[in-house]
This record gives sequence, C-alpha cells and structure tokens, in this order.
Amino acid sequence: MTILALETSCDETSVAVVRDGKILSNVVASQIELHAEYGGVVPELAAREHLKNLLPVAQSALREAEISIAQVDAIAATQGPGLPNALLVGLKAAQAAAFALNKPFIGVNHHEAHLYSPWISGETLTADFSKFQPNVSLIVSGGHTLLVLVKSELNHRVLGGTIDDAAGECFDKTGKLMGLPYPAGPVIDKLAEQGNPTAFAFPRPLLHDANDDFSFSGLKTSVRYFIRDHPALLEDRKQVCDLCASVQAAIIEVLVKKTIRAAKRENVRCVTASGGVTCNRALRLELEKACAKNGFTLRLAEKSLCTDNAAMIGILAERKLLAHVPLPLLDEEIKPGWALA
Ligand code: KG4
Ligand code: ZN
Repeated sequence: MTILALETSCDETSVAVVRDGKILSNVVASQIELHAEYGGVVPELAAREHLKNLLPVAQSALREAEISIAQVDAIAATQGPGLPNALLVGLKAAQAAAFALNKPFIGVNHHEAHLYSPWISGETLTADFSKFQPNVSLIVSGGHTLLVLVKSELNHRVLGGTIDDAAGECFDKTGKLMGLPYPAGPVIDKLAEQGNPTAFAFPRPLLHDANDDFSFSGLKTSVRYFIRDHPALLEDRKQVCDLCASVQAAIIEVLVKKTIRAAKRENVRCVTASGGVTCNRALRLELEKACAKNGFTLRLAEKSLCTDNAAMIGILAERKLLAHVPLPLLDEEIKPGWALA
C-alpha cells in the first residue's frame, strides 16, 4: 500500500510517501527562520507559508519516492490538533486530492502519530514493535507535553499532560528572557553542556504531585524574576551557561521522574519518547540512565523524526488502513483542539 501523507499542523510543511511500513520520502520545509524574528510561531504567517510551500514539497516527495500521484493508494493528512489555519491548508489539499483521484482519505491525530515515530528505525517501521506494548510514551515538544499509556496498537490512554506551557515552550520562553534566539531549545541544549546544572535552584513543578500532569509556566516565571534580580549575569558567558544548565535540569528532572514513575505504576516494560524536545541531549541521556536503572527498554525517536514530519502521519495512516479503522468522510473539518483520549 502506498500512502501520500501531509503534515501542516504548526510550522513545518511536510509531505511523505510511505509504502508497506517504509518511508520512501519525507520532505520537510521548516519555517523556523520566518518566525524567528517574532520569537514564536505567528499562526497567520504559518498558514500562508504552508500555502506557498505545500505543492513544491509534495512534488519533491513524489519525485524522491520515484512515483507519480496516480500510484498512490490513499492520502492522509493531520486533522488536528494544531493551528486552525495551518491545519486547513494540509487537510483541504489532501481531501481535494483524494476526491480528484477517487482514493481514500485518512485524517490523523498528530499526537497519535508521534507515538509511532520512536519505532521508525532508519526508514522502516520496526516489524515487531507491538511486542513492546504496553509502553509509556512521552511526547514532548513546543506545543505539547503528554504522557500516554500505549496499551496495544491504535489503543492508548492519555495519563497526563501539561496544564499550562509545554516543555519546549518553557525552553523557548526562558531562552527569550536570556536574549537567546528562537527557538531557544537547541541553543540552551548547547550552552548547558558547558554549564553547571546545580549552579542555580529552580522549582520542579508538580514533581511530587500524585498525577501524571506537568506545569512549566511557574518555572518560566521564576526564571524571569531571577534574571530581573541578577541582570549582570547575562553579561557573563559562564553564568549564562550555568543558567541554561540549571533551567534545563529542572525541566528534565520533572519529565524523566514523572515518566519513570508512570511506567512503574502502569507495570510496563518499555518507555518511548518523541517530539522536538526529545532532540535534547541531556534528556536523552537522563532517560537512558533512568530506564537502564529501572530495567525498562527505551526507544527514543531518531532526532530527524523527533520534530514534526509527515512520515509519522503516513506510517499511522497505513496502520489504520490495515486495521480497517472507519475512515472520516471526505468533507470532514479540521479538529484544532483534538485531544488524544
Ligand atoms: O516537535 P516540534 O518541531 O514542534 C512542535 O512544537 O510541535 O518541537 C519544537 C520544539 C521547540 O520548542 C524547540 O525549542 C524544542 O522543540 N527543541 C529542543 C531541542 N530541539 C528542539 N528543546 C531542547 N533541546 C533541544 N535540543
Ligand atoms: Zn508535534
């Protein structure tokens, strides 16, 4: 089966071709530079950029996969959650193509697709990935922070999520307070390597609460007050590195400890992680250490598949077709607030 998949939920325009669990192409046009001067994603600009980029990105994806659109068996797109105008571009293009070609259309939940990215190894979906179910999956990016119990294929339950800012948002916003460029996550990751994570003490929000939820806005506020009270610190590179390492340590400790606690309680043997923040080297290392210590198998999405991409949308769409999941109608609308159950 050959699937053409479109992803336009936020600031990446991506089109992939997936066939029998293998990624034939996965083209991503990132809009990071466009939004950098605003310090965050501007929804209207994101949608216009998707309109501009979608067709050339789709053409590249088909070319790279060495197929024509007539050879596609089904067309998938992210239906939600995401920025409404951004979602509209990909969803309506996919539905129009499915209509014109008289092929099935599959609307995909972006978060559910993230659950599959840790199982893509090289360009192929790991054949025996269902052996590692149930597992606990951390989805952590600029827009979302979720802990999900994956019971079996296409069968999961959200254990908890952020009640305010996402972890990536916390990286980006605290970085902005330090004067770092957007997105600050990767910059903090780099600077933190030369810093001392115990130099400054920041709160570990909800760490000891008996739930699987997260909260990062209070941490951001405490960094704001800290910088207000120590403005000279930003002039000293060593201290900025210490600040980055300390903020990063606070975010990571909460993510790792709550993930491990959930995995123990749910009695699973495997932990997975995906989403842009999963590119963070310290998070990858701490998850590895914690999983090794507690006897969990760990599957981290490859860095190129941590951030938003259409390959994960295509992989999930194919699994849904194979499982004969009822497909949405061709004129279904976007679901900007589509929460994973
Ligand atoms: O998954 P993604 O591309 O988009 C969504 O937000 O859905 O994730 C982008 C987020 C940004 O907040 C960015 O700062 C963060 O992931 N990020 C990182 C790193 N690389 C990307 N955060 C910390 N360390 C990194 N190395
Ligand atoms: Zn995402």
